[in-house]
Amino acid sequence: PSAVIVAIDGPSGTGKSSTSKAVAAQLGLRYLDTGAQYRAITWWMITNGVDTDDPHAVAVAAGKPVIESGTDPSAPTITVDGLDASGPIRTQEVTSKVSAVSAVPEVRTLITELQRRIAAGARDGIVVEGRDIGTTVLPDADLKIFLTASAEARAARRNGELAGKEAADLAATKEALIKRDAADSGRKTSPLAKADDAVEVDTTALTLDQVIAHVVALVEEKR
Ligand code: C5P
Repeated sequence: PSAVIVAIDGPSGTGKSSTSKAVAAQLGLRYLDTGAQYRAITWWMITNGVDTDDPHAVAVAAGKPVIESGTDPSAPTITVDGLDASGPIRTQEVTSKVSAVSAVPEVRTLITELQRRIAAGARDGIVVEGRDIGTTVLPDADLKIFLTASAEARAARRNGELAGKEAADLAATKEALIKRDAADSGRKTSPLAKADDAVEVDTTALTLDQVIAHVVALVEEKR
C-alpha cells in the first residue's frame, strides 16, 4: 500500500489522540500530535518568563525553542531543546495558556512548517491530529476526519484523563473546555474548523473501539 496521509481534527475531548494513535498503530503509520507541539512552545514561553498574553512578545520568542516530535504511535515523544516535555505540557497552566500562544501567526507559521516536514518524511504514511490539519497544514490529505461530541461527553472524557493527576470537577472542566474551543474556533489564523471534504464523525454515543474501527475502515478504503 502507498503512503497515506490522514488528518484528524476536532475540538478537545472528542477522542482525537486515542483514536489517532490506535489507527496509526493498527495500520503501521506514523503519528503526530500537533497539540503537543503548541503545548511545548507554550511551556517554553512560561518557563522563560514570556508574557503569553502579549502577542508581540510571543511572536519575538517563537523561533527560540527547538521542538522535536517522535512519531511512533506506541510511544510518541516531544522534546524542547532536547529535554523531554511530555509531562510538563499536560499541566492546567499550559492548557489554560496554549490557545493564546497558538493564536499568534508567527507561532503557527513555524509549527506548520515543522508539521509539513514531518508529514513529508513519513514514507509509510502518517496520522496527524490537531485543529487545522485538514484545512491548512495538509489540505491534500488522502482522508480528513472531523471528530465531534457533545460538550457533556467531552468534559466527562477530559475529567477522566485528569483524574489522579489534578483534581478537577466536571463543571469547571466543561467551562474551561468550552472556553478553549471558542478561542481556537474564533482566532483569525487557521482556526479550528471542519474542512469541506472532511468526514464528520459524532463520537458522543460511540465507544473508543467503535470510533477506531470506523476510521480504520475509512483509511482502508483510501489505500
Ligand atoms: O489537542 P490539544 O488539546 O493538546 O491542543 C492544545 C491546543 O493547541 C489547542 O487548544 C489549540 O489552541 C492548539 N492547537 C492548534 N492547532 C492544532 C493543534 C492544537 O492551535 N493543529
